[in-house]
Amino acid sequence: MLGIGIVGLGGIARQHLTALKVAEDEGFARCVAAADLVEDLRESHRKDWEIPAVYENHHKLLEDPNVDAVAIVLGHHLHADLTIDALNAGRHVLVEKPMAITLDECDRMIEAERAAGKILQIGLTGRFHPAVRKAREILDTNELGPVVTALSRFNKNWGYGGRRYQYRSRWMGGGMWMGNGVHAVDWLVHCVGAKAVAVKARQSTSMHYQGADDATTAFVQFANGVPGLVVVVGSAHGCATDGIEAHCALGEIQYNVRGSLRIGANNQWREVEHDGKHGFAEQYRHFAEAAAMGIRPQTSSHYGRHILEILVAAEESSITGREVHLTDYHRLPW
Ligand SMILES: NC(=O)c1ccc[n+]([C@@H]2O[C@H](COP(=O)([O-])OP(=O)(O)OC[C@H]3O[C@@H](n4cnc5c(N)ncnc54)[C@H](O)[C@@H]3O)[C@@H](O)[C@H]2O)c1
Repeated sequence: MLGIGIVGLGGIARQHLTALKVAEDEGFARCVAAADLVEDLRESHRKDWEIPAVYENHHKLLEDPNVDAVAIVLGHHLHADLTIDALNAGRHVLVEKPMAITLDECDRMIEAERAAGKILQIGLTGRFHPAVRKAREILDTNELGPVVTALSRFNKNWGYGGRRYQYRSRWMGGGMWMGNGVHAVDWLVHCVGAKAVAVKARQSTSMHYQGADDATTAFVQFANGVPGLVVVVGSAHGCATDGIEAHCALGEIQYNVRGSLRIGANNQWREVEHDGKHGFAEQYRHFAEAAAMGIRPQTSSHYGRHILEILVAAEESSITGREVHLTDYHRLPW
């Protein structure tokens, strides 16, 4: 069973810990340690989740011989350095999304992964959620024919008042686009099943006083000729809407990470069932299998870098007003 050490016990750590309880019950991974700079968080999580060992920083956690792999669950500006430290200490790493905040950081992480000979998986959780896995299965059967065009949307209340400072500053990798657009871009690439070759986008900070975007619309052209649209909004007063709408040659498919999935053909919609498994736990199952077998995970470091390449191309396009052609997409295999 893969022993996981979680670094960062903030907002999303509970999802990781819940997933690792499922993983422990199913016998493929378990949480053996955690680290956070904040003592109260360390102590409350240790008690609530029966974590065997807690540490005040990741350096101490990396000295624990029970830690086979590390989950980096921190602010975006910290992903690269902590991932590299963990790889250099000989651990497999699952790093939360986005992979990092610059492509140079991604390249350093990829080099550390290569040198360590360990697995680096990016926490692009979307594809492990049950409705998304089922949707991919349906697309793979070709019953709907090829995807003609697709729309990926992520709109949620930005929750400005409670949003931590690092997520309100693009300089620290914040903003709706980096934090949540990363999911919407991943969903689109996963649906279309090809690499992106060009991006044209418009971003704005329309509803909040912050040094980062809250609304982006991006037109993405894929290598297989399919165009896609990504609309990502951190609204001040809106209602959440998210998911993929793909128009295929023989019908439509709509789905999201919250479990909704339906296909439409000849003017009739049909709800589709799925296995309902816990998305984060499935992400850990994939990570444990990749680590055990030494195989490249689906959301590999190269894939995570490509998603960041699309995100920064959209930012560049919004500033210059021009379409940005991606130059690195062909360089790295997924
Ligand atoms: N996959 C998803 O669906 C999903 C959802 C939400 C958030 N996330 C991602 O998860 C990551 C963390 O988000 P969050 O909202 O939980 O962050 P957060 O800011 O709430 O928590 C980060 C924690 O890390 C701790 N920390 C900082 N530096 C540390 C160090 N060197 N050693 C140990 N602890 C340290 C902080 O004290 C804090 O408690 C981000 O990348 C975010 O985008 C993913």
